[in-house]
Amino acid sequence: APVQQPFTSTTELHSYVETDFKAPVVEIERRRNLAIISHPDSGKTTMTEKLLLYGGAIQQAGAVRQKAEQRGTASDFMEMEKERGISISSTVMNFDYNKLRINILDTPGHEDFSEDTYRSLAAADNAVMLLDAAKGLEPQTRKLFEVCRMRKLPLFTFVNKMDRPALTPYEIMDQIEEEFGLETHPILWPIGDGDRFKGVLDRLSNIVHFYQKPVKRGAKAEVIEVPLEDTAKLEELIDDSELFEKLMEDSELLEELLNPLDMDRVMAANQSPLFFGSAMTNFGVQLFLDKFCDMGTKPAGRMAVKRDDAPKKKKKSESESEEDDNEELIAPEYDDFTGFVFKTQANLDPKHRDRLAYVRVVSGTYKKGMKVGHSRSKSGKKYNLAQAQALFGNDRESVEIAYPGDVIGINNPGNFAIGDTLYTGTQKVAFPGIPSFSPEKFAYIRNPNPSTYKSFQKGIDQLLDEGAVQALRQRNDDGGGPLILAAVGQLQFEVVQARLENEYGVQSQLEPMGYTMARWADGGWDAVDKADKDGKLFGTMIVQDRWQRPVLLFRNDWKAQAVGEEEKYLELIPWSK
Ligand code: G4P
Repeated sequence: APVQQPFTSTTELHSYVETDFKAPVVEIERRRNLAIISHPDSGKTTMTEKLLLYGGAIQQAGAVRQKAEQRGTASDFMEMEKERGISISSTVMNFDYNKLRINILDTPGHEDFSEDTYRSLAAADNAVMLLDAAKGLEPQTRKLFEVCRMRKLPLFTFVNKMDRPALTPYEIMDQIEEEFGLETHPILWPIGDGDRFKGVLDRLSNIVHFYQKPVKRGAKAEVIEVPLEDTAKLEELIDDSELFEKLMEDSELLEELLNPLDMDRVMAANQSPLFFGSAMTNFGVQLFLDKFCDMGTKPAGRMAVKRDDAPKKKKKSESESEEDDNEELIAPEYDDFTGFVFKTQANLDPKHRDRLAYVRVVSGTYKKGMKVGHSRSKSGKKYNLAQAQALFGNDRESVEIAYPGDVIGINNPGNFAIGDTLYTGTQKVAFPGIPSFSPEKFAYIRNPNPSTYKSFQKGIDQLLDEGAVQALRQRNDDGGGPLILAAVGQLQFEVVQARLENEYGVQSQLEPMGYTMARWADGGWDAVDKADKDGKLFGTMIVQDRWQRPVLLFRNDWKAQAVGEEEKYLELIPWSK
């Protein structure tokens, strides 16, 4: 079949056969997704901004931050984000670079938002871990790394802030190897650090790129490049005999010591290409971007369960229905459109009171106005995707078309929840849901003003749908009793309270509870009752989740562990399946 070229106009787009949802191969091939993960303050905002600068998506550095600040005045929720200097909501940005379409998935670095980060990683195909050169691995990078490992995401490592005093590159490599069991493979190798930072050796081309202190902040750095074999020139420009000799020594040593760069291992998250640079002074960012374009992977497919869309008439035998649940790979080249919701958010723009579901396109083509099936729909109802938006930070523009690897924001009047699959075609497709983190903070939430009952309830329901926090209730409570909020971090509670006030105009009171751990009892209510009767659950609170499944709240890990080990029939698990 002839290779389909990208559309250049909307007329061309609309003439594209309405029922054909197969994605053009060129569009799949040219897409690269990248999630940026880091501990707060290692320079993620700066790095994102510089990537956008080099990708031509913004004209001057500072634009992302400026936008954040303008946004900040729009609502107090965003104000909170600004004050704390953290990015609460994940955003997606894209630009075209060297014929590639790069989608950058920003992820909140704050530990309280790791749940949100995890969901963003479900939409990514590559990740870059940003480290502060002076600090190396930090708590948040550790946690995020685990998630990347679980997902087997190809992971790049960028060591930032080389213009400041830094750990040696060997120390950083050792840390990553020892703690994560992840072998790094330096692509860029630094020459000096802090005031003596001279630049990097590109080990793939054997060219040394010299670091230039930028005259004006935000301007692109000047380029001076010298081949490694031109030692006389290098010695002159490095102008520091100790560093020059170290470079000569390191470049040989690395050739001898390192395992070769193996892209199969990189793709399996067993080897991480390693870069050094200084995002603030623009150094190393474009080099990283160029290498990422070469080494990063195009959008991958996802495993899913596929079924005939027609409602089942007669019950199938056990073995047949089991066969039905076999997962198969939905590749980007699959004939139909499929995508999954990985995040929902309400009231991005307080003026419009809208709600968005963020969909990662897995296969096929999204076309404005298309009709899609929904994995949770029993009736086979179709939904019209009339309006989709591309997101640039929190600014939005309407999109006509999107391909595998892209993320679109669709209007969500409440039909779409995290983990839902949307699809075209006659076969129903369901990607597995996105598991949530086990909560560690619990609090009763109350409405002090009964007159605002309705708004309070609506706000709570929408925030729960969004997955901002989880909700638990006391056993046998059919909705009338006090609501317990469960979160991974304290900040999630504060966001819920701030948003209830700003977006729904209601006050709320929180009463923290002294529990630190939740365990779902997979053994069911009978098992819980037995343990309770035997006095095994002393000091433990028995509650239920949204689906009336038993959950035990423990005051400490030790108690949870002891109960889990001694009362195996309870089948305690850290999260809801
Ligand atoms: P984050 O999103 O990961 O939290 O980090 P962010 O980019 O906001 O950077 C945190 C701080 O580190 C900022 O300083 C930023 O300028 C600085 N920074 C980022 N990259 C580099 C780098 O390569 N070298 C050096 N020396 N500093 C870097 P700030 O004082 O908090 O803010 P500002 O005064 O720069 O606005």
